[in-house]
Amino acid sequence: MSTFKAPRGTYDLIPPASATYLAVREAIAAPLKRSGYGYIETPGFENVELFARGVGESTDIVTKEMYTLTTKGGDELALRPEGTASVLRAALEANLHKAGSLPVKLWYSGSYYRYERPQKGRYRHFSQVGAEAIGAEDPALDAELIVLAHDAYRSLGLRNFRILLNSLGDATCRPVYRAALQEFLRALDLDEDTRRRVEINPLRVLDDKREAVRAQLADAPLLRDYLCEECKAYHAEVRELITARGVDFEDDARLVRGLDYYTRTTFEFVHDGLGSQSAVGGGGRYDGLSEMIGGPALPSVGWALGVDRTVLALEAEGVELNLPAAVSVFAVPLGEEARKVLFGLVGELRTAGVATDFAYGGKGLKAAMKAANRSGARYAIVAGERDLAEDVVQLKDMDSGEQSPVPLTEVVEAVRARLA
Ligand code: HAM
Repeated sequence: MSTFKAPRGTYDLIPPASATYLAVREAIAAPLKRSGYGYIETPGFENVELFARGVGESTDIVTKEMYTLTTKGGDELALRPEGTASVLRAALEANLHKAGSLPVKLWYSGSYYRYERPQKGRYRHFSQVGAEAIGAEDPALDAELIVLAHDAYRSLGLRNFRILLNSLGDATCRPVYRAALQEFLRALDLDEDTRRRVEINPLRVLDDKREAVRAQLADAPLLRDYLCEECKAYHAEVRELITARGVDFEDDARLVRGLDYYTRTTFEFVHDGLGSQSAVGGGGRYDGLSEMIGGPALPSVGWALGVDRTVLALEAEGVELNLPAAVSVFAVPLGEEARKVLFGLVGELRTAGVATDFAYGGKGLKAAMKAANRSGARYAIVAGERDLAEDVVQLKDMDSGEQSPVPLTEVVEAVRARLA
């Protein structure tokens, strides 16, 4: 072991488990790629102000959880705690919203950083795959995104997840509700911190997990009862479209998310096998975010699914992904001459698209066959001096143990035929 360890709240993705993470990222991205979303990649850090304004000055993410730093040049930066503000910033900067028709549909995959108290499912470095549809107000777009996330989870074989759905209203109805909620909350017996929260971000109080607080919230007014006619109609259509696609969801009038930019549609994917960190993904509409960061009015909607928690959900359900072995063929040379010949053959197999590895390090037959076994390869190619004298190699089926000579010039074709 080295003197160093991975920083607290982080972990390394190492083979073979890392293959599951790759497969999860690919499974989440696949429905997006099929639905017109283009790939976007933004820097791992941004101007602090982008998140302060975008995610919200009063959110835990901004006040407590950001990794901030001042560069030698004096810039105030933050490691990105989430992707939406960055993606919108990048789209605006590149004028994507002017370049073609709206919405601009983008997907991304990467690392995010939050200085949270580590526990199972909650890390300081984690990974998300996300999607943002920028510049259109259309219930069908909200519904598309919810259905695509649902499809991604289903394609992975997950069953025990639920979709929680809510509407957070808009600039017309939310302020009225906010005032009513504040009035209700001010009358409660709350600690000083929570009282402060009532004044700056009362909706977040609804999300308080502490029993003493929860018990007092039973009669809290609900946004549902304050939605304006436009928001009501919009939400009804989102629900209708999702239902029509056969996707189940639960109305959750108390669902508030930890980011301030949401308007109207908000949703969370929760998995019941994960304990307290049960949200595997979440998202919603953020019609005002563009203006908050200095852009034009661009109503938008998106989500991000957590890769780490999705992997935990797979484990909780006992789902084994059908991952292909890393290599199909493993070459075992016996002797110096065979090493050179097989090294060339390995190259030919790879060029032909057959994933192949080689027994490096001058191993003897026994150790080399052990390595072939461990690699998970379907076939081993073994050759010694006597084989080469006859211009053949031994092709060994690693499952049955059967072995037969194949002429050197026909190996690539023989292997491809068998693997097909
Ligand atoms: P979020 O709910 O903050 O939303 O994060 C989305 C997902 O990222 C969570 O459901 C969870 O799976 C994962 N996640 C968040 N924090 C952690 C952590 N500390 N450790 C492990 N996993 C974590 C957003 O980030 C929004 N940007 C989503 C969005 C996109 N809204 C609109 N567009």
